[in-house]
Amino acid sequence: MLYPISRAALFKLEPETAHAVTLAAVARMGSVPPMRAALAACFCLPEAEPVEAFGLRFPNRVGLAAGYDKDGEGWRGLASLGFGHIEVGTVTPQPQPGNPKPRVFRLVDRRSVINRMGFPGRGAAYVAEQLRRPRKPGLVLGVNLGKQKSTALEDAAHDYEELMEVFAPLADYLAVNISSPNTPGLRKLQERSFLGALLGRLAAKQTELADNYGARIPILVKLAPDLDPDQLRTAVDVIVEAGLDGIIATNTTIARDTVEGHPIAPQEGGLSGAALTDMSTGIIAAIAGHLDGALPIIGVGGIMSPEDARDKLDAGATLVQIYTGMIYEGPGLVKRILRAL
Ligand SMILES: Cc1cc2nc3c(=O)[nH]c(=O)nc-3n(C[C@H](O)[C@H](O)[C@H](O)COP(=O)(O)O)c2cc1C
Repeated sequence: MLYPISRAALFKLEPETAHAVTLAAVARMGSVPPMRAALAACFCLPEAEPVEAFGLRFPNRVGLAAGYDKDGEGWRGLASLGFGHIEVGTVTPQPQPGNPKPRVFRLVDRRSVINRMGFPGRGAAYVAEQLRRPRKPGLVLGVNLGKQKSTALEDAAHDYEELMEVFAPLADYLAVNISSPNTPGLRKLQERSFLGALLGRLAAKQTELADNYGARIPILVKLAPDLDPDQLRTAVDVIVEAGLDGIIATNTTIARDTVEGHPIAPQEGGLSGAALTDMSTGIIAAIAGHLDGALPIIGVGGIMSPEDARDKLDAGATLVQIYTGMIYEGPGLVKRILRAL
C-alpha cells in the first residue's frame, strides 16, 4: 500500500542508484534482529505451503532472482520480505567492474527494464564472507555463478569449478549462469559443443565435492529465452544427460519485439519485466514439455502479479522467482503471490 509513495521517490533516482539505496536499506534492517522481525511481520506469510525440489525443502514457492543481491550483502533483510529462497550473485571468481554506467534503464510505461550490467561484483571471497552469517531457519540460499569477463570461453569450466569449490559448503544450491547477454560470448556456452564438455566437468566436480562434504549440492542451469526450439531441446537434453538437477528459465531477452518503437528499446542489454512475461512462459512450457517431469524448473521472467506466477506454475515450473516485479510492484508482491497460490 505504501510502495507507490516510495516508488515515486525511487524512480526520481537513476535506476542503479535507486537499487543501491533500496538494497542498503534492506541490508541495514536485515542486520538488526528487531527490524528483521518487524519486516517479517509485514511481509512474510508463515502459513505458505512448503515445496520439495532438487532434494531441498523450500518454505514457499517464491524466490528472489539472481542479480538483485549480487554481492550477498542484503540477503538476510531480503529473506524477511517473505521469499522462500534467495539466489545471490551472479558471482565471478575475482572482483570486476562490469560495463560502464549508465547500464540499467527503466521502460516505466511497459513495467520493464533493460540492463547491461556485465557481472559487476566484489568477487567470490567477499561474497563467501557474506554468506557465513547466521541464517533464518528454512531459508534456501542459492548462489549464481558466472565466468570472469577476461576468461576465454574455452577456459570457462575452470571458473565455474573454482566457484563451486568456494560455494558448495555455503549454499544450498548452485546456478550456472550461461545465459546473461551482457558478458560477450557467454551465451555460446548453451550450444552443444561447449555445453556438453562444460556440464560434464561440473558434474564431475559435483561428485568430487559430494565425496569431500558428504552431501551432493544441486546444480541448476539458467537458460536464455532467446534459444530457438532446436537449441532449447538440445540444451535441455545435455543438462539431463549430464545428470544435473534442474533448470532456471529464463534470463533476460535480447529481443525487442514487445517494446518495438519504445525510446529506450534501442539500448543494448537484456530486457526483463512485463515485456518478457509471455516469452518466458512459452519457453518454460516448451522445456517442461520436453523434460516430461525429468527435472524441476524454476520459472522466472516478467512475474508482475499473482496471475503471472500462476501461469509459470501452470506452464510447468515448480518454483518461481521475481526481480523486475520487485521494482514496479514492491516487496508486497511476494505475499500477494503466496496468498493467491
Ligand atoms: C538489473 C538486473 C540485473 C540482473 N543480473 C543478473 C545476474 O547477475 N545474474 C542472472 O542470472 N540474472 C540476472 N538478471 C536476470 C534476472 O535474474 C531474471 O532472470 C530476469 O530479469 C527475468 O525476471 P524478471 O522479469 O522478474 O526481472 C538481472 C536482471 C536485472 C533486471
